[in-house]
Amino acid sequence: MNGLKVAIVGATGAVGTELIKLLEDSQIPISCLRLIASSRSARREVKFRGTSSLVDVIEDASDAAFDIAFFSAGGATSLKWAPQFAAKGALVIDNSNAFRMDSDVPLVVPQVNPKMLASRPNRGIVANPNCSTIQFVRALRPLAQSFSIRQIVLTTYQAASGGGLRGINELLTDAKSVLDGTGEPTSERFPVSLAFNVVPQVGELSDDGVSLEERKLVQESRKILGLPNLKLTATCVRVPVINGHSEAIYIELTEFIPLNNVRELLARELGIQLYEEAGCCAYPTPRLLDNHGHVHIGRIRTNPDDSRGLWMWVVANNLQVGAALNAVQIGELAYRNRLMGAQ
Ligand SMILES: NC(=O)c1ccc[n+]([C@@H]2O[C@H](COP(=O)([O-])OP(=O)(O)OC[C@H]3O[C@@H](n4cnc5c(N)ncnc54)[C@H](OP(=O)(O)O)[C@@H]3O)[C@@H](O)[C@H]2O)c1
Repeated sequence: MNGLKVAIVGATGAVGTELIKLLEDSQIPISCLRLIASSRSARREVKFRGTSSLVDVIEDASDAAFDIAFFSAGGATSLKWAPQFAAKGALVIDNSNAFRMDSDVPLVVPQVNPKMLASRPNRGIVANPNCSTIQFVRALRPLAQSFSIRQIVLTTYQAASGGGLRGINELLTDAKSVLDGTGEPTSERFPVSLAFNVVPQVGELSDDGVSLEERKLVQESRKILGLPNLKLTATCVRVPVINGHSEAIYIELTEFIPLNNVRELLARELGIQLYEEAGCCAYPTPRLLDNHGHVHIGRIRTNPDDSRGLWMWVVANNLQVGAALNAVQIGELAYRNRLMGAQ
């Protein structure tokens, strides 16, 4: 197989921009990269490996055949166009929420369920999970495989970049106007103004009081881990951080497990960085992360009132680990499996 023809739909967005950067150094041999966005960005120049390309609108690229098409332009665009790209032979790696829970679409985190990429899915679509799900399942996998879990209670602290470039811009503009004392706080991308605030809602709230993000986290984690009965409940919170999601995870095991056993298991896991020293700053924080491809885990401790209860603090770059890097790693694994057989 020679160089691959690759498309990125949503190439000018927060995730698309990271995809372009990560593909520069990826193991996927690329002979042609087509960059696609909305008409707002048509003809914009974007560089890949030192060469400029012009951004296309999707209608101009829809007749072309690609080997891989990364979709990162929201659910509506994926629903309309991903099946058409797949029908022309592309393996679609979709970042949106459009297909994740479809039973005939694998939902893949390569470090957790790589076997899902052993053969090509009939629909030609592989789904990339939600950002808060990916770091959670990567941290949980070694523990879920070794120990019996009673239940998990999880709180997320999610950055503005989870709301895309508009989310980042809104936080920055909003913070400036609060500091300057000028203008009203803005709240277009988030339910209420995010600057200097904490918002306990990510995505729409349904009638039972659960938010869309909380529902996605639970359903997707069960599917990826292959644990349909996993007892997991979450509160998802937006915080005024530009990039990097944090999660406080409480795992109630069925028996006491010494902390050293837990640490050893996590330390052996590829792509996990442990913070084990005691004292100040011996834990990861989203703004000061250094290794952006890793899941960072600190403050592993036992509940003093229940020795079967285990806490940990998990931080990751949501635009990379939680989106673009996971998508590229799906592409790399699919390529190692030579795009998984017959089309
Ligand atoms: N941000 C995260 O942490 C994260 C994590 C996991 C998954 N995701 C998912 O990834 C997707 C992209 O998120 P993002 O954060 O990168 O959003 P974003 O910054 O708002 O970028 C959206 C991208 O989609 C393009 N687009 C919008 N409408 C389009 C259309 N009709 N045809 C073609 N392109 C279109 C935009 O082009 P213009 O520049 O021309 O507007 C832009 O390139 C979403 O589905 C999101 O749910 C995001």
